[in-house]
Amino acid sequence: MPMLSYDPGGVFRSGAVTSEQLEQLAPRLESARQEIDQDDLAVLAAGDSLPADRKPLDATFYPLPEQLLVEQQQAGNKSVVGRIGQLAARLQDQVETVVLLGIGGSSAGARSLMDACCHPYHNQKEGRTRLFFAGGNVDNDATGALLELLSADPRPFAMLAISKSGGTLETAIALRQLMALQEQLRTPAWPASADLLVPVTAPGSRLDRIADEVGCSERFSVPEGVGGRFSILSPAGLLPAALLGIDIEKLLEGAAAMNERFRQAPPGENPVLDYAGVGYLAETTAELTTRVLAMWNESLYSTGLWCDQLLAESLGKQQRGATPLTTLNTRDLHSRAQQHQQGRRDKLITNLVVAGSGTTSLAIGPSPWNHDRLDSVQHLGLDDVERAAREGTSEALQAVGCPTAEIELAGLDPFSLGEFYQMMMLATVVEGKLLGVNPYGQPGVEAYKQNMARLLGLDQD
Ligand code: PA5
Repeated sequence: MPMLSYDPGGVFRSGAVTSEQLEQLAPRLESARQEIDQDDLAVLAAGDSLPADRKPLDATFYPLPEQLLVEQQQAGNKSVVGRIGQLAARLQDQVETVVLLGIGGSSAGARSLMDACCHPYHNQKEGRTRLFFAGGNVDNDATGALLELLSADPRPFAMLAISKSGGTLETAIALRQLMALQEQLRTPAWPASADLLVPVTAPGSRLDRIADEVGCSERFSVPEGVGGRFSILSPAGLLPAALLGIDIEKLLEGAAAMNERFRQAPPGENPVLDYAGVGYLAETTAELTTRVLAMWNESLYSTGLWCDQLLAESLGKQQRGATPLTTLNTRDLHSRAQQHQQGRRDKLITNLVVAGSGTTSLAIGPSPWNHDRLDSVQHLGLDDVERAAREGTSEALQAVGCPTAEIELAGLDPFSLGEFYQMMMLATVVEGKLLGVNPYGQPGVEAYKQNMARLLGLDQD
């Protein structure tokens, strides 16, 4: 079975955080684990009104993978996983293009899954359901280009409208525009509108009311107690994943395996507790306030953006919380690396490494000329070059006291990704508990929303 590993060796070697400090933190890590594993869930299960200082408590993401798997075993096609599988099969049969409408946590997970698991040119390949994204911005040019692309195609397209609150402006505008386009392009051969719009939202939301009017034949909800950026393993991420042909049971099994390790493994052997502990110590004792997640696979860049959101929106509160930064190497070795090597000493750099490449390593290969002096390494593959770049970079950083760590995924398969997503979500909650910050909710985002609504003269009920 693949196993994700976390190695903070480079952090210890740099001296920024010591293994003794991490050992001393163990009792607090144990108590954060107990709170997450028992106290928070007990409070949620009791259903009593929460004390103000614990609101919101979106802790349901933690047991969700096991709950969904058990439900699937018991209820089969009637379970959430079963219904997602059937809907994905129906859409794959009926349309070649699906547009996902959503922003923030309602689209970052799907984007990460698509990029990590699918062919890099998935949408250009024949015979696969194409997935486009809309509503993640209010960019006139990008929206216009998508509308133009869809208009040029006589075939029907479907929409997954994902919004937990069901009232997010960006998503609502995109839905209006795409529904209008659908009606304009519709021919009698197209499936009914009710079959071409699938909402993922809370019951009773504005989006849910639109779905009632349209008479949508299928709809899903983000379960109560699961926040947007913690919703990747709910229908918000699972439905687009299934549509793309990703094995969602394996995703859930990977997450469930990480839950088990989180519950059982002692600090020092527990990727969740160790990652959270090192990050917390780096920020609070060594003033390493910038958290760099360095990607070495292009397909993981959007997973880095998913992590950015998770850290920034969860812990960026009360003037605390590290600033996340995703880099893509070796691209960013030609831009950001200068600053990381010789700039302000405020960074903890974690490499996300994939142990098994899914594809055959391409050789540098022969050439009729040797002006580039590559003849002596022509037998090496791109994987060898990537490894040398990564190890060379970590060595150079550690030589100047800049700490590095590594998370190693066994592969870019759904199980390993499920482990990774769950590890990062749990570690964020653990770190929030250490920092004294509620990782759930994003009260700071309300200010812009209210100002924007006022400036637009929008009705705010
Ligand atoms: O993490 C969060 O909760 C947010 O980023 C939301 O996902 C984002 O604001 C979109 O909200 P909604 O799903 O309600 O449209």
